[in-house]
Amino acid sequence: MEVVPLASVSEVASVAASVVESLVRSAPACVLGLATGSSPVPTYAELVARHRAGTGPSYDGVTCFLLDEYVGLPLGHPQSYRATIARELTDALGLPASSVHGPDPTDPASAGADYEAALTAAGGVDLQVLGIGSDGHLAFNEPGSSLASTTRIKTLTDETRRDNARFFDSASDVPQHVLTQGLGTILRARHLLLIATGAAKAPAVAAAVEGPLSASCPASVLQLHPHATVLLDPDAASRLARADHYRAVYESKPDWQGL
Ligand code: GLP
Repeated sequence: MEVVPLASVSEVASVAASVVESLVRSAPACVLGLATGSSPVPTYAELVARHRAGTGPSYDGVTCFLLDEYVGLPLGHPQSYRATIARELTDALGLPASSVHGPDPTDPASAGADYEAALTAAGGVDLQVLGIGSDGHLAFNEPGSSLASTTRIKTLTDETRRDNARFFDSASDVPQHVLTQGLGTILRARHLLLIATGAAKAPAVAAAVEGPLSASCPASVLQLHPHATVLLDPDAASRLARADHYRAVYESKPDWQGL
């Protein structure tokens, strides 16, 4: 795992956007895995700004897969992850809805197996953008999720419903059920890019990066992945015991190595 403590939220967005662009330039038909939530929003805004400025790559050949989706929202609800990702990123990059896939919340019983089959048919995810929940959840894999899990229905914890209440009128309006890629699904992506910013994420980041591998901190599965990159602002990095070493590693990294 490569942990990269950066100077600001905007530097995190800029570095993350460059990782996405460099993949799309080198592999124009790549598969991007997209997270929703607040953490990747500045990165998506940066990608859109570069695209509009004409400095970004063409996204015409790119296919996208969402990490997760709420179950029970009316079709087209603005807080559905499908609507959110179109609004925040894919519409602005010129990607048609047919190139953006998500687990089907209208058929939660079959959605998991169908989504796994769709991911396999697409050749798997090349780069998976991730956030982390304040309780250490990854996608919507709450603490206790199997480290080998695949896409399935899950029940949100009260903590996650409270965290996500800011997108709804109240916590009780946040759906109780969701569909999420499993931790085993996420581990199959070829490169994991976790973005965490803000002090509220510091304990979860420390547990995921420096704590034991445990279903109690689902994001600790990153420790099993051969190519995981963790981009942090100073607040999110503030509880890491080895932050100085991670900074030194990043600063002395050979240019040819990239992220
Ligand atoms: C949300 C999403 C995750 C996200 C995480 C952190 O509930 N389902 O995909 O990465 O929890 O969210 P945020 O970035 O808003 O803090």
